[in-house]
Amino acid sequence: MEVQNVLHMTPGEDRNSYVVNSEYQKMVIIKAKSFLEEAITDLYCKTFPKSLSIADLGCSSGPNTLLVISEIIETISSLCRKLGHQSPELQVFLNDLPGNDFNTIFKSIPCFLEKHRTDKGNEFGPCFIAGMPGSFYERLFLAETLDFVHSSYSLHYLSQVPHGIESNKGNIHIAVTSPPCVPIAYLTQFQSDFAFFLSLRSEELVYGGRMVLTILGRRNTDPSIKENCDSWELLALSLRDMVSQGLVDEAKLDSFNLPMYSPCVEEVKAIIQEQGSFHLNVMETFDLDSGTNDDYEKEDVEFDEIIKTLSQLS
Ligand SMILES: C[S@@+](CC[C@H](N)C(=O)[O-])C[C@H]1O[C@@H](n2cnc3c(N)ncnc32)[C@H](O)[C@@H]1O
Repeated sequence: MEVQNVLHMTPGEDRNSYVVNSEYQKMVIIKAKSFLEEAITDLYCKTFPKSLSIADLGCSSGPNTLLVISEIIETISSLCRKLGHQSPELQVFLNDLPGNDFNTIFKSIPCFLEKHRTDKGNEFGPCFIAGMPGSFYERLFLAETLDFVHSSYSLHYLSQVPHGIESNKGNIHIAVTSPPCVPIAYLTQFQSDFAFFLSLRSEELVYGGRMVLTILGRRNTDPSIKENCDSWELLALSLRDMVSQGLVDEAKLDSFNLPMYSPCVEEVKAIIQEQGSFHLNVMETFDLDSGTNDDYEKEDVEFDEIIKTLSQLS
């Protein structure tokens, strides 16, 4: 089963939807705001362009999708106000897999644009928002047409479940009981996916274009340490219980693995350097406490996110 044909966040706006369950990802976006502002400011102030083409990759649907675009608009409007410039025209592409709930996004766009027009008046230049369904592990845009690429909380999704992990029985991800080949296979898949992602974006970005990527990462160099596997361990435990109660077929559990990998800083840095298309301007990590369960020890619910801002080299 191809991941890109089946993966999507829960659509709609009811209590199980991503719209209603994306507060954690919203906190990540807010925490990374200063990096986004800095990158957009640098980008704009280098050439004072008349138009900017921007893509948000793995945008999903809901308040977070347009929050990122709002932050970009605010930064540009405030710069233009200070400099006495006319705001540039913005072309914004919202990308996600084809199963994403683009309808919910599209319905909210007129209201979003109207609000910015009312709040900012002349400071708000023309802004055109379009959906771009497809995998970010493929080419999505014309060569050398993007000025800025953003992605938050999406690049830990792999293009596929790694090959060669059939022995990871009873687990659904890297676990303490996984055979040694499992973390290696996950890392190899991430290395190949992320390097390919960088090479694709380097074709699409203009010379001097920028990217800000926020990735769910891990602090420990050993990927099987509990810190970043815990929630999957709990899910696997529940599934094993269901197998023992005859509710889930054991063969199905044994063959199921999640197409996700949370890299550590060293892994990400090495891939960027080896791939060679981008200069790494800033790389920061931060912790976020999901705060969803007061009984949890802080270490159990902390994640590291890796912020990267990259400039196109050639
Ligand atoms: C956890 S959501 C984050 C969404 C949003 N950026 C936010 O911060 O709320 C991750 C998104 O990445 C998307 N995604 C995963 N793999 C993708 C791929 N290969 N191409 C495009 N989008 C992908 C998922 O469909 C999902 O909507």
